[in-house]
Amino acid sequence: MNVKGKSFLTLKDFTSEEINGYLDLADELRTRKRNREKVTGCEGKNVALIFEKTSTRTRCAFEVAAHDLGMGTTYLDPSASQIGKKESIPDTARVLGRMFDGIEYRGYGQEIVEQLAQYSGVPVFNGLTNEYHPTQMLADMLTIRDHFGYLKGIRMTYMGDARYNTGNSLMIVCSKMGLHFVCCAPKKYWPNEELREICAGYAEESGATLTFTEDVTEGTKNADVISTDVWVSMGEPDEIWEERINDLLPYQVNKACMANAAEGAIFLHCLPSFHDLNTGIGRKISEKFGLSEMEVTDEVFESAQSRVFEEAENRMHTIKAVMYAALSEEQ
Ligand code: CP
Ligand code: NVA
Repeated sequence: MNVKGKSFLTLKDFTSEEINGYLDLADELRTRKRNREKVTGCEGKNVALIFEKTSTRTRCAFEVAAHDLGMGTTYLDPSASQIGKKESIPDTARVLGRMFDGIEYRGYGQEIVEQLAQYSGVPVFNGLTNEYHPTQMLADMLTIRDHFGYLKGIRMTYMGDARYNTGNSLMIVCSKMGLHFVCCAPKKYWPNEELREICAGYAEESGATLTFTEDVTEGTKNADVISTDVWVSMGEPDEIWEERINDLLPYQVNKACMANAAEGAIFLHCLPSFHDLNTGIGRKISEKFGLSEMEVTDEVFESAQSRVFEEAENRMHTIKAVMYAALSEEQ
């Protein structure tokens, strides 16, 4: 794999060999970290971390990974920078490109990461936009590969809001890597037609299949992996909760879904998740709508089938692979 100097904006830009290359590299870097081996090649470089939306995993993954590789990081939160308000994205990109070796961006439209990449002249890493969440996909694929030993032929069912960053990206990575992707959601939450067509092309090449269904029994039948995400994403208005609950409650991942899945099936979730009343938003929703768990029941979240914390750890190893592959001088 040679992706040195290349931005990581969406997995549409990468071949299945390259995606496998990232996974192999992440696996190797994970082993080296566990053996407390130093990884050289990136020391002294600096990465800017722009977060226009909040984060626990992605920010920590970039910071720990950069630190492990001997790199410096500068964290810019929405209130601490001029981005978009007093300074345009092209201007910001040209400034940061002169100071940093790489830029991570989490925020709104995909066009922002594209502009950052175009104008900064350094690799840009997409830490989540409205449309895509590509670093999450590497962690998901690594977690599946860790568990099953392979990716091709795995049946992956995604339930809930499939027309946003996580659903879109999961369809892309599954169709590239030869997994059978099942979108189990009301029709208005399916990924848009243009992206579905692009992915159908990838699937033809990889042997993947793409299925779209509103039927939960059909959608979860024989799934090897069932995955979901929050029903209301960052940046969406609070008023949308009622509609989302009405539309998506039938697509909650519960014990019946897991029982209908293949034997040995696992549950994944990018997190954070509303599976109990231990969050402020969870409690507010409970008071208003009487729901104590949302996209996944606490029973499934806490079950032995749940691999969500392995998945969260893999964010760090895979993000380290993305930065190493783009920035290391020793490859
Ligand atoms: N999964 C994920 O991106 O988590 P954060 O929002 O905490 O970064
Ligand atoms: N779809 C979610 C993903 C969070 C990691 C969001 O955009 O808020």
